[in-house]
Amino acid sequence: MNSFYFHNKVLHAESVSVSDLMEAYGSPLYIYSKNQIEFNWYQLEKAFGSHPHLICYAVKANSNLAVLNVLANLGSGFDVVSIGELERVIAVGGKPSLCVFSGVAKTKGAIQKALEYGIYCFNVESASELNLIESVANDIGIKAPISIRVNPNVDAKTHPYISTGLTENKFGVGADIALSLYKKASNSPHLDICGLDYHIGSQITDVIPFIEALDKALELIEELKVEKINLRHIDIGGGVGVKYNDEKTINIEKYIQSVLDKVGGLQVLIEPGRSIIGNAGIFVTKIEHLKQNNSKSFAIVDGAMNDLLRPALYGSYHHAVKVSENKKGIKAIWDIVGPVCETTDFLAKDRDLNLEEGDYIAILTAGAYGFVLSSNYNSRPRVAEVMVDKSSHAIVRKRETIESLFENELIFKNEIN
Ligand code: LLP
Repeated sequence: MNSFYFHNKVLHAESVSVSDLMEAYGSPLYIYSKNQIEFNWYQLEKAFGSHPHLICYAVKANSNLAVLNVLANLGSGFDVVSIGELERVIAVGGKPSLCVFSGVAKTKGAIQKALEYGIYCFNVESASELNLIESVANDIGIKAPISIRVNPNVDAKTHPYISTGLTENKFGVGADIALSLYKKASNSPHLDICGLDYHIGSQITDVIPFIEALDKALELIEELKVEKINLRHIDIGGGVGVKYNDEKTINIEKYIQSVLDKVGGLQVLIEPGRSIIGNAGIFVTKIEHLKQNNSKSFAIVDGAMNDLLRPALYGSYHHAVKVSENKKGIKAIWDIVGPVCETTDFLAKDRDLNLEEGDYIAILTAGAYGFVLSSNYNSRPRVAEVMVDKSSHAIVRKRETIESLFENELIFKNEIN
C-alpha cells in the first residue's frame, strides 16, 4: 500500500490532492496518512499470528497526539522514554499497562509517576538505575516490573549515529553485568522480573544483526533459567528500516516468523517507530527562489533543517518530488536548500528536476523523526501538521506563531540598580 501517489500528475495523500492541502493549510506542512499508519501496524500485528505479543510503538518517532490516537484505537502498546511521552499516550486514551519505559536515564520523579500509572515494564539501562527503581518502588510500596536492557555487542550495519548495540554505545549493559543484575533483582521484594530487552539500532535493512542479537539474548535467558530466573517476555526493540531510496528492506513476516521459531512460549514485545510512521508522512515545502550560480543550481525553499533535520544530521536521503508534474520549469540538477544560515541546511542534493519558483516540493517518507526533531532555530515557528483519512483532512497541530516563540522569555531586570 502506498498512500502517497500520483493521479493526473498531481501528488495525492489518500484521496486528497496535496496541492489542495497546501492551498488550504499553507507551506511548509507535514501531511500524515491515517490509513497508512493503520496498514503498517496491522501488517506487523498479522505477522505475530496467535503468538503472545505486544506492539509498543516507539513514541519518539512521531509523538503527535493524532498519530498516537490512531494507534491507541488499534489497541497498540507504546514505548516511551520520558514522562512527557507517557502523558501524551494517556491523553489520547492509551493504556500505561501496555507501555514499556525505555530511555538511558530515568529520573526518580519519572519512575515514581510511571509506577503510579501502572507501567507494563521498565527497560533498565544500568545498575544505578535498577537501584533507583528498587528504592522508589520500596518508598511507594509497589513491586516494580523490570527488564534489563542488554547490549549484545552486535553491529547493526546502519549509520553510526543510530547504532546502539555495540559495546562502545552508551545503551544497556553487557551480558555479565545483566546476569548479576537479574540475580540481584531476583532477591529483591520490590522488583518483579518480567523480561529481557535489547535494541541494536535504527534503519536496519539486513535481518542478520537482528537474529544475532536474538541468539545472544536467548543464550542469556538459558543462563538465567539455570539460576531459576524465568522470564515472561523478550523485547526485541525496534529498528526495522524503511525504503528511502533503493535500499533493500526486511521482510517483516519472515523476520517475525524467525523470531517466533526461536523464542518458545515467551511473549514477544517489539518497539517499532519508523516502520509504522515513516512512509505515512511527507513534508511539503514551497520554492521561494531559484538561483543558478556558475555550475550549481539551488532551489531555495521555505522549509529548512529546523523543520526536517535528518538530511543535515545524518546526511539522510529522502526522495524529493514536484507536487504537480503538470508545470514545466527549468531542467537542471538541483540542490534543494532552506533559508537557514548553515551549510548543512539542505533537504536534498543533486536532484534532476524541472523546477519553477512557486512549485511545491514533497520530501517523501518524512513521517518518522521529522517533526519531532524540529526546532525554532533562526526564530522559525514550527510548521503545521495535517492528517488525511480518505477524502477528509484536518489540522492536527497548528502552525506556531512568531509571538509563541518568545512567550516564555523575559527581559532581565536588574533590581539592584
Ligand atoms: N526502541 C528504542 C529503545 C529506541 O531507542 C528506538 C529508536 C526505537 C525503539 C525505535 O526505533 P525505530 O523502529 O524507529 O528504528 N533520529 C534517527 C533515529 C533515532 C532512533 C532512536 N531510537 C533518524 O532520524 O534516523
